[in-house]
Amino acid sequence: MSRKIAVLVGSLRKDSYNLKVAKILQQIAPKTLSLQIIQIGDLPLYNEDIDQGHPPESYTRFRKEIATCDGVIFVTPEYNRSIPAVIKNAIDVGSRPYGQSVWAKKPTAIISVSPGAIGGFGANHALRQSLVFLDMPTMQQPEAYFGGVATAFDDNGNIAEKSRAFLENFIKTYADWVNKLA
Ligand SMILES: Cc1cc2nc3c(=O)[nH]c(=O)nc-3n(C[C@H](O)[C@H](O)[C@H](O)COP(=O)(O)O)c2cc1C
Repeated sequence: MSRKIAVLVGSLRKDSYNLKVAKILQQIAPKTLSLQIIQIGDLPLYNEDIDQGHPPESYTRFRKEIATCDGVIFVTPEYNRSIPAVIKNAIDVGSRPYGQSVWAKKPTAIISVSPGAIGGFGANHALRQSLVFLDMPTMQQPEAYFGGVATAFDDNGNIAEKSRAFLENFIKTYADWVNKLA
């Protein structure tokens, strides 16, 4: 049986490096995992007023998708040394209504991806602050800061062997993490 894992990508850009990395993770994940990229770009900025009575359809769709998954992977760029608003917004939507958070206990992992040298370290750790509060058991090792991503792909979209090996180790260890917590 393969476990459904929600993948949240923190960039809405068509040619996003983070999206490319998320798609490679989908391809190389062990058979025990089925990675599904969940749409977050259509979620209106969280507002308790619009969440009363008849919440936006996208909020309901998103909450259901997360609630029915067995784990979560965040693939995120760093924006101004923190997480992009789309990721924080998705976290906030999933955390409400109060007392009905969809996040608790889901085995989680983070990979931050950047053309820069420090691989989105600031985003990776800023994200962890919310995950602690939301009771999401988050894989500690290997830490995954994917720096220099702009040079990791060739013109045909193939990833360099060294980077592929790094991603393989990340996703295999995450599969073990999910099994351990199941
Ligand atoms: C608003 C904004 C802020 C950014 N801040 C950072 C930053 O703090 N650290 C960093 O490494 N890159 C930063 N960048 C550059 C991104 O890493 C780069 O645009 C990257 O390609 C975004 O990921 P994507 O390719 O998946 O869209 C920033 C980009 C934007 C648009």
